[in-house]
Amino acid sequence: MSKNVDYIVQPGGKLTGRVRVPGDKSISHRSVMLGALAEGTTRVTGLLEGEDVLSTLGAFRALGARAEGPDHGKLVIHGVGLHGLKAPKQALDMGNSGTAMRLMAGILVGQAFDSELIGDESLSKRPMKRVSDPLGAMGAAIATAEGGRPPLRIAGGRKLHGIDYQMPVASAQVKSCLLLAGLYAEGETSVTEPAPTRDHTERMLRGFGYAVKTQGARVSVQGGGRLKACDIDVPADVSSATFFLVGASIAPDSDIVLEHVGINPTRIGVINILKLMGANLELLNPREAGGEPVTDIRVRATNLRGIRIPEDQVPLAIDEFPALFIAAACAQGETVLTGAHELRVKESDRIAVMAQGLKHLGIDARETPDGIVIQGGRLQGGEIDSHGDHRIAMSFAMAALAASGPVTVRDCKNVDTSFPGFAELAAHVGLAVKVQRGK
Ligand code: S3P
Repeated sequence: MSKNVDYIVQPGGKLTGRVRVPGDKSISHRSVMLGALAEGTTRVTGLLEGEDVLSTLGAFRALGARAEGPDHGKLVIHGVGLHGLKAPKQALDMGNSGTAMRLMAGILVGQAFDSELIGDESLSKRPMKRVSDPLGAMGAAIATAEGGRPPLRIAGGRKLHGIDYQMPVASAQVKSCLLLAGLYAEGETSVTEPAPTRDHTERMLRGFGYAVKTQGARVSVQGGGRLKACDIDVPADVSSATFFLVGASIAPDSDIVLEHVGINPTRIGVINILKLMGANLELLNPREAGGEPVTDIRVRATNLRGIRIPEDQVPLAIDEFPALFIAAACAQGETVLTGAHELRVKESDRIAVMAQGLKHLGIDARETPDGIVIQGGRLQGGEIDSHGDHRIAMSFAMAALAASGPVTVRDCKNVDTSFPGFAELAAHVGLAVKVQRGK
């Protein structure tokens, strides 16, 4: 059993210097998946060596793909081709990762063998019908536990056919799952999304030489093609950079540069929202890396103001709300979020857990069914339970920069799923954080 981890963060301080946060989690997962399914050798640099991505890599090793690394973000994957995976000896453990489980389901329904996907306590509570229903409509046989939860038991050897799917929730995981299943299906598989979601799967499929058609909100693939290995340079994760964007905005006299951050247009809701709140963000030297736009971001402290968050930004900032709520707590006036029910089915119920934590730190935060209303104020010190949610843990660690007393954040072990080395990196640029490891 790994040890419990708490953060003890002293109040005040500022963030200064330059940081490159670890690689993008979404792109890292996909690079392992497509690399393993491609023909030839894929070389990845900048890979996130977080536990979530290691779960995906572990699954492909169990399915017979060979890989060297990861070592300092470098991974070499020897692809087995779309039909070269072998039956695993046991259930595939996706740990804490919803992305790994949902995308792997799309791949595994196309195999000749049976498989099972399991996850940790948090993942075991997350909804999987959103993928098992449309996969079933494609001809897959996929059984969930009660209430559509994991584990997923997938029967191999089924003939899949393409479907034209109107996705009820704006979910890149569902879209990606179906496109991956579509590689194995007869005919065309199309997914129409109700609002734009991250498009890393589409971009990377094209990078591996697979034709993907995008017409407005509808994206389609034809089954029966091949993936050709390629090299991938993973940009720094804008979701991980977010903690520093918020921290530097709320801590007086901060001035920090985040390097090589991915700014795919489907991921920059946090930048748009912070700018609406008055944040001082400068995008420097925009360029391209491996089919994805990247930039350096300079952030300086400023007085933020509360806003009504535009609903069209919600899917583009879906992972960034815990940190944005801290920004709202430090802003002048009221911030209102609506249209964000999806936050309730992430690694934790992020609306409930954030509202509870903010109230505990003296902030007026009121939950609504699909959002939250936060009155900006003065954060106090206190003890926060992150409920094992990595993004909640990192958000409250940053809150200490603007708090009047120390903030203790409990249950931070899962920070390693997306941001190994967070506390050390944050301390390096000015956060007064100490890591306490328990039994
Ligand atoms: C992800 C999509 C998002 C996001 C998750 C990663 C992905 O989930 O919250 O952290 O890599 O496709 P949904 O698409 O379910 O909203």
